Amino acid sequence: MTGRFSGAGCDTDDDVGHRFWMDAAAALEWDRAPECLSRPLPSGLNAWFPDGLINICRNAVDRHVAAGRGGDPALIYDSAMTGQVAKYSFAQLQAAVARTAGMLHNLGIGKGDRVIIYMPMIPQAVFAMLACARIGAVHSVVFGGFAPRELATRIDDAQPRIVLTASGGIEPSRLVPYLPLVAEAIALAAHKPAHILSYQRAEVPADRVALPVTDWEEALGMAEPIDCIPCASTDPLYILYTSGTTGKPKGVVRDHGGHATALLWAMRNIMGAQPGSVYWAASDIGWVVGHSFIVYGPLLAGCATILYEGKPVGTPDAGAFWRVAREHGVEILFTAPTAIRAIKRDDPDGSLVGKGDTLPLKRLFLAGERADQPTIDWAREKLGVPVLDNWWQTELGWPALSPLAGRDDLEVREGCAGRPVPGYRFAILGPDGAPVPPGAVGDIAIRLPLPPGTLTGLWNNEAGLTQSYLERFPGYYVTGDSGQIDEDGFLSIHGRIDDIINVAGHRLSTGSMEAAVLAHGAVAECAVVGVADALKGQLPWAFVVLEKAVSPEPGMVEREIVRLVRDMIGPVAALRDVITVPALPKTRSGKILRRLLREIAERGRADIPATVESPHVIEQIMQRVKALQRPASSSASDVSDRSS
Ligand code: COA
Ligand code: AMP
Repeated sequence: MTGRFSGAGCDTDDDVGHRFWMDAAAALEWDRAPECLSRPLPSGLNAWFPDGLINICRNAVDRHVAAGRGGDPALIYDSAMTGQVAKYSFAQLQAAVARTAGMLHNLGIGKGDRVIIYMPMIPQAVFAMLACARIGAVHSVVFGGFAPRELATRIDDAQPRIVLTASGGIEPSRLVPYLPLVAEAIALAAHKPAHILSYQRAEVPADRVALPVTDWEEALGMAEPIDCIPCASTDPLYILYTSGTTGKPKGVVRDHGGHATALLWAMRNIMGAQPGSVYWAASDIGWVVGHSFIVYGPLLAGCATILYEGKPVGTPDAGAFWRVAREHGVEILFTAPTAIRAIKRDDPDGSLVGKGDTLPLKRLFLAGERADQPTIDWAREKLGVPVLDNWWQTELGWPALSPLAGRDDLEVREGCAGRPVPGYRFAILGPDGAPVPPGAVGDIAIRLPLPPGTLTGLWNNEAGLTQSYLERFPGYYVTGDSGQIDEDGFLSIHGRIDDIINVAGHRLSTGSMEAAVLAHGAVAECAVVGVADALKGQLPWAFVVLEKAVSPEPGMVEREIVRLVRDMIGPVAALRDVITVPALPKTRSGKILRRLLREIAERGRADIPATVESPHVIEQIMQRVKALQRPASSSASDVSDRSS
């Protein structure tokens, strides 16, 4: 690609990394090659390759067929829930995606229309994402473990023309019929999508709902395949909602061109993947890991990607990951530390791992939450491969701190998530916004501009973008994490500075859980805190103050509150404990001392700060937690927030 790398409004600042990113972009097929690398947006973020035309689906699928790799494996679906395995070559994937795109087109879906995808981990969900990209529609995948109310919030914000779903998901303990959940969400939402399209799974009967539902296979039968349309590099590819501090989810927007450029670079340089490598991100398409490293990243790099429907343990046992790795020749595995902790708990000796020489794995990447050292050590020893922690966020879209396996930089440091990846310039800032010296703890921030592939905005929420990330420290993106950097540039992450918690790699807002708890009529006041847990990293505990007039039978309100949070947010937001207390500990200015509550939950005790309003309340809370006789797991300190 030739490029003059400048032009009206074009950012020519060296900070942006002209040559680096133009070269990275040149590895893709463009409908019109960009000459301008980036242009600053009014928000403070950047628009990448603003004069370029590209389609990410063409690059992920069609490009490989055109290059003669149509027969190579592209998508391997392995369901531990049903025992099914289905393999799609790039040519078969192209045919399936092109037809799915035709089906959406027949339903009137076109460029810029939003499409909500609320689906289990089945190939049709991947076809749907790529089909949206193919026709320039904007997908928004909603994790199947979210309840109707969460789905409704996303429907109202994204205003989709269509909701794509399936008859249901399959969890180890039960079938999860999706249609009643979708129907309830649509009843709750003010916006009414024009269509609901449902894929009928043989294993999950479709529930009758009082809504017109189009059958996926019937609609597909009437569709003709259609080609990729050229999109502006800056066109929105997807919206992915993530927990925010306000309780209202934030719709992270990602583009076509910057995203494709960054992911292809990441697959080659961070993951060390080659065309033909078998790559597996054991996550869910509802999370950012699923978007970047189940769907787009591996396919852009010409890898075969695994779509696994199952759990790390219990489907049927803790050898499930190693079976999949062996059966499909997985070389690179990406998962959350929780998954490895669960495997280690069930198979501490690693007897189900099998002999190292039969396992094709070359490396294991861990992200999504803090990777504790015992888990890293166990995986390294049992698997005999490098275990590579990496840090990033839904907003960033691809690793920002990581070793670079593709460049043979596998250096890791105990307790650290890694060093900055090219394109990310980190700073640890003190309360005054000035960088603190190495070794000192502060807010983790990234100097603007962020690299390509990171968020280009928040859907319908420019004010939220500024408020959440950009205004606190001008010139920086604020990550919401605190941590420190050492003399050699390795960062260690201490935890969130806001009310976001990470449960089994799932990002949840304690603010929205508090809103759900408060919906219970007997609750006067509450605080939900994330408490360290040896398996899931953190678990939410609710401390509640009941209305004076309420004297329920013991345990009843607590059970109702657990149920309420589950019904309002989803089964992944399971409160571990609900503790009724006479009052919440507060500072004299009325701020709830959440950190103190967390400390009591984790250790059974806490030092009472001088600023506290009524110290006797804290004594009573400590007694209540002690009376539970089940403080957070004794090994919880392995995973506890190091800032506390
Ligand atoms: N649809 C519907 N329900 C779902 C769901 C989905 N897609 N995913 C999870 N749930 C439900 C589960 O069935 C469970 O419900 P239950 O309380 O009725 O049994 C609840 O949500 C909690 O599920 P989960 O968080 O998976 O906990 P678990 O105790 O069932 O399993 C682990 C523990 C460690 C095996 C599991 O948390 C896990 O696989 N973690 C890795 C997570 C991960 O990959 N995260 C991606 C970030 S990279
Ligand atoms: P999500 O947006 O769901 O990917 O969650 C992002 C948050 O998860 C980050 O802000 C961190 O708090 C946490 N996180 C992700 N990766 C790591 C890691 N490697 N180490 C510690 N925390 C992590």
